[in-house]
Amino acid sequence: MTVKTILTEPNKILRQVSLPVEKVGNEERQLMDDMLETMYDAKGIGLAAIQIGVPKRIIVMDIGNREKEKEPMYFVNPIIKNKNSEHSTYEEGCLSVPNQFAEVNRPSTCEIEFLDYNGNKKILNASGLLATCIQHEMDHLEGILFIDYLSKLKKMMIVKKLSKQKNKIDRIIV
Ligand code: NI
Repeated sequence: MTVKTILTEPNKILRQVSLPVEKVGNEERQLMDDMLETMYDAKGIGLAAIQIGVPKRIIVMDIGNREKEKEPMYFVNPIIKNKNSEHSTYEEGCLSVPNQFAEVNRPSTCEIEFLDYNGNKKILNASGLLATCIQHEMDHLEGILFIDYLSKLKKMMIVKKLSKQKNKIDRIIV
């Protein structure tokens, strides 16, 4: 397993629409292992393949209490079947939008159809943090970031801040 570099906004790759996986094979499993390792290393609870530059519809998540035991979840080609009309609000962050947080409204429950680590078809009824997290990750597959739900001004301020961080040059005193 290898820890990969996580792409951060602004980056055009993060805006790509990811492509469906034809078959869950060893290459995909290797990718999922690397994604999970990368996610744990960055102390995140979810990661989409595009965040490490791979435009495949693959997501890994672990919303469990990491101190007890790891509870990794793998989603290949996830599709949302049903969304609740009721919404819930979480303060969201994203490994691709470092150190920025904002409240986002999303359907409070949803049903997801997907392929698991072994390529078996599964259905998951998600609620609470799990529902929010999977919807956030599935947005990544469409090239959408949580900051896209904010006001234009708020989003602009965040992107500006991130660009500044990125372009920071090392200061030396000689
Ligand atoms: Ni994210």
